[in-house]
Amino acid sequence: MLHTDNDTRWMRRALTLAQQGWGCVQPNPMVGAVLLDARGQCVGEGYHAVYGGPHAEVMATEQVKAQAKHLAPQGVAGGTLYVTLEPCSHYGKTPPCAARVASLGLARVVIAVQDPNPKVAGQGIARLQAAGVEVTVGVLADEATALNRPFLVAMAEQRPYVTLKQAATLNGHSAPHAWQPGDELGSAGAWFTSPHAKAYAHRLRQSHQAILTTAATVLADNPQLTVRLAVPPENARTPVRVVLDRHATLWDANRQAPLVGVRVFETASEDTWWVVSASALAARPTLHDWYQPGLTIVPLPDNDNSAVSSWGATMQALFSHGITSVLVECGGTLAAALLAKPAVDEWHWITAPHWSTSPQGVPALALPTTTVPTSPWPTPVWAGFSTIETQSLPDALVWVALR
Ligand SMILES: NC(=O)c1ccc[n+]([C@@H]2O[C@H](COP(=O)([O-])OP(=O)(O)OC[C@H]3O[C@@H](n4cnc5c(N)ncnc54)[C@H](OP(=O)(O)O)[C@@H]3O)[C@@H](O)[C@H]2O)c1
Repeated sequence: MLHTDNDTRWMRRALTLAQQGWGCVQPNPMVGAVLLDARGQCVGEGYHAVYGGPHAEVMATEQVKAQAKHLAPQGVAGGTLYVTLEPCSHYGKTPPCAARVASLGLARVVIAVQDPNPKVAGQGIARLQAAGVEVTVGVLADEATALNRPFLVAMAEQRPYVTLKQAATLNGHSAPHAWQPGDELGSAGAWFTSPHAKAYAHRLRQSHQAILTTAATVLADNPQLTVRLAVPPENARTPVRVVLDRHATLWDANRQAPLVGVRVFETASEDTWWVVSASALAARPTLHDWYQPGLTIVPLPDNDNSAVSSWGATMQALFSHGITSVLVECGGTLAAALLAKPAVDEWHWITAPHWSTSPQGVPALALPTTTVPTSPWPTPVWAGFSTIETQSLPDALVWVALR
């Protein structure tokens, strides 16, 4: 059956509800649901509010009890459920929603998008149809896909969704000078964007499951990589911080301990994963057996010695640990390598209204000059992205590109 204007209206309401789970449900998707009785009256609404908590469909049916006196005489039997994602059909943190929905005696279930999670992938729909429920799929599908892009890509491709965030001056510099061995830890970092841009960056952190950086950036900037400007503040939850350090450069061989002063290692209340190659670990038994609360050492297979090809193995290691979305905060070398691969699903480029006058300014993208074509115009770095949007902040301009 084709969908109606009424379907669009109720699905829009379900999508609005779903958004209330923003920043609180990862690695789960944001989901909203609206339940109508046989007379078409809304008798229940719900959304997935917290990871591990009840799903949207359950929240909507729970609300029905509170609405009991307004219900049609037959309860919700013959009614319609609007839900932004296919009801799950497997036991996860909660029992399968499809079985519960199927037991309600509804006439119809309207779904925005099918769940590509291989544990669901149409089985929730089949469960409902087997119970005699008419199922309509695809109402406001584009909006529902945009809402849960990281989840849908991660489930369909069985790898983490990758967002790259960079901040640069108007002339494309990401730091005033490069860090050199012997320099003080963190001495090459410079915060040149301002409060609104900082809040934007922290919102990006809040909506991902992991924040990934490199040993090179840790040495240069010594960032904390925590969420300190959460919206709302009570939802502050710092994602896992992942440090790529194939050669264990953040290990002090003299002390037989991590370098003193590395913030991502010293803020033990937040989880940090230190990704080191298996051969570097084998050569450093003390590091291999290092124990520190909050710090996990993740060995990276040495199948290939190149940093570029280690990316796939790193992503698989993170995915196997349940990480489905990664925000990359790195320098120009890794950023350019990931864009060239291409391994970036979403790219946020924050331009600060400053012109760097430093002759040693570090380009935010270390693009190899050999790939620059003979044309006098620069390589179109946006090539390969389907959507490009801009957002104006009071103190910066953000370019957002989606693959
Ligand atoms: N403004 C900003 O947004 C921002 C953010 C972060 C950093 N920064 C600045 O960026 C500078 C550091 O940049 P950087 O270019 O030296 O370092 P980077 O891009 O942060 O890291 C480069 C290193 O990453 C490792 N790597 C791991 N996987 C890789 C892969 N698949 N492809 C390529 N490299 C991979 C390589 O080290 P191995 O060969 O050892 O694996 C490589 O040398 C600092 O000055 C810092 O201040 C700016």
